[in-house]
Amino acid sequence: MKRRYAAFFALAALMLTRSLLPPPGAAVAAAGETRLPASQTKYVALTFDDGPRADTTPRLLDGLRQRGASATFFLVGEQIDANADVVKRMKEEGHQVGNHTWSHIRIKGASNALVEAEVSKTDAEIRKVLGDGVYWVRPPYGLIDESQEKLFTVPLVRWSVDPEDWKLRNADADVKAVLSHVRPGDIILMHDSVPASVDAALRIVDTLEAQGYEFVTVQELLELYGVTPQPGVAYRSARLQQG
Ligand code: NI
Repeated sequence: MKRRYAAFFALAALMLTRSLLPPPGAAVAAAGETRLPASQTKYVALTFDDGPRADTTPRLLDGLRQRGASATFFLVGEQIDANADVVKRMKEEGHQVGNHTWSHIRIKGASNALVEAEVSKTDAEIRKVLGDGVYWVRPPYGLIDESQEKLFTVPLVRWSVDPEDWKLRNADADVKAVLSHVRPGDIILMHDSVPASVDAALRIVDTLEAQGYEFVTVQELLELYGVTPQPGVAYRSARLQQG
């Protein structure tokens, strides 16, 4: 019932905004894309895997804070304890923290028992540092069977823009790859474990903010697009999940 009311008010607000303020030159939704957020802001989510790393992650956090940008971090469980201060900073500075398994396993083809152990051990480790919360999961390599997705009690996150930064290790190439593909609603995959990726990410934020983009967490991005994140569902971009 509650959700039905919320949906009604969101729709009413959207209609009101549309009728009162016909946005000049507003993007027209393509077939299958039901609507954009009511505001003119272009929202996008930067996500970082394979941290936390003492030598690279704090510099990224500094840069994001200077730019007023939020991001989402999918942590490798076995690296959390030694970097608990970095993980605390993530939450304090408005970022979303998620789970990337304990030892970066390939979930696809792994037994349910192993997946459960790797995910729940990491979840417990994050809770030890940050307290209670819902810590979403990104499967390492993006590899997971559809039947396995349904076993998760939290939302799963894939991506829609992948600059292959872990392979290129070249900030110029990363920047070019992201800027040539990104659109509002995208989820961008990068790695805070790679020094060049930190440089690239901050340049990407500078460029896109100048173009009117705002950097939000994955959870915020989905909610801005009217998507209610569901457990056991994998999200690739906010655009693709609408309707
Ligand atoms: Ni990874």
